[in-house]
Amino acid sequence: MMRILVLSGPNLNMLGSREPHVYGTETLKDVEEMLVALGGELGVELEFYQSNHEGELIDALHRAHASSQAAVFNPGAFTHYSYALRDGISAIDPPVVECHLSNLFAREGFRHKSVITPVCAGQVSGFGIQSYALALRAAVALAGKAVGEGA
Ligand code: DQA
Repeated sequence: MMRILVLSGPNLNMLGSREPHVYGTETLKDVEEMLVALGGELGVELEFYQSNHEGELIDALHRAHASSQAAVFNPGAFTHYSYALRDGISAIDPPVVECHLSNLFAREGFRHKSVITPVCAGQVSGFGIQSYALALRAAVALAGKAVGEGA
């Protein structure tokens, strides 16, 4: 069965109580439950991982090289400056779909730049927790292509 990593970076463990006017009131557990249901419909197995630490996120990407066919990744604020995460994405074969709850381009100037996007398959931004669902659909389509099952 196709396996997809859903990776979330710093402060996303605080979803639900963290700036709810920006990120909504759903928790990361709510996101995971929604994705488990969608994963069931799409016939894929999901692995979830969240860390507030850059190196642990890099380690998770490296593990995905061998264990997953694609990844959904919300790198949080690392999006805007982590060349180490960018290199980690470049280092692995599975396609990575960048995902953000908020619309980066409707926010502060420093959020308009992502150093991650150029090495990702694409970016989903601005749809609240539905960003994760849309990114998962994209990841599954990309992974299907990679293993020759069609998009
Ligand atoms: C975020 C956007 C980032 O700018 C921010 O630092 C986050 C969350 C989002 O999901 O909208 O932590 O990645």
